[in-house]
Amino acid sequence: MSRTIIAIIPAAGVGSRMNADRPKQYLTVLGKTILEHTLRIMIDHPRISRIIVAVGKDDPYVSALSVLTHKKIQLVEGGETRAASVLNALEAISEENAWALVHDAARPCLTETDLNKLLEINDEHGAILAIPVTDTIKRSDELGDILTTEDRSQLWQAQTPQFFRADLLKHALDNGLKQHCVITDEASAMELAGFRPHLIEGRRDNIKVTRPEDLALAEFYLTRKI
Ligand code: CTP
Ligand code: MG
Repeated sequence: MSRTIIAIIPAAGVGSRMNADRPKQYLTVLGKTILEHTLRIMIDHPRISRIIVAVGKDDPYVSALSVLTHKKIQLVEGGETRAASVLNALEAISEENAWALVHDAARPCLTETDLNKLLEINDEHGAILAIPVTDTIKRSDELGDILTTEDRSQLWQAQTPQFFRADLLKHALDNGLKQHCVITDEASAMELAGFRPHLIEGRRDNIKVTRPEDLALAEFYLTRKI
């Protein structure tokens, strides 16, 4: 049986590191919000059958976005943490053989080529986009001075999308949250459940808009994509 691919977009964060007047997913780049740029990638992809967006309770910005009336899109309420937001979205999946493609609202520069590389994966461990660490990595002591230099040869920076069987991911997140584990991405929940997700090398321009200086970079990369 062929699988159903459902995109989950956690968009319920407040963007505290961005220091803006609204959550970063609602900041405008090239005439569209970051969330709209991100959703466009998922709407246009023929293998993604629907898109579940987790938004904050009482979010006053989302209703202004006309794209959210698109027939592929469903809104659910987000949670206290990213993991809780993703779990709420997973609860809205009832399809047989569903796979969840979880992608941060704050990563609007994902390319179709990277997305397609990830969608080739079809085993129960799942996979994520990631990039090998290129900078020299230091571990600090509690004063902020260097304790040691880490061996970076097997270190990767996790990106999104992250792609897993929806039922396995739901179980893993549910258990992880119940055990009060720190879960900063879907792969970490799967790792705790005993899986070994594949690392698929992605592009460095798939940035997560996090701090004010990232906006100019996102604009530059999006200009090149258009
Ligand atoms: N997110 C979410 N629900 C939360 C927290 C985060 O859906 N409770 C989403 C964010 O909207 C974002 C993605 O998860 O698209 C990645 O999180 P991050 O970059 O940390 O965004 P924020 O939490 O909004 O930013 P910050 O940590 O700076 O406050
Ligand atoms: Mg956060």
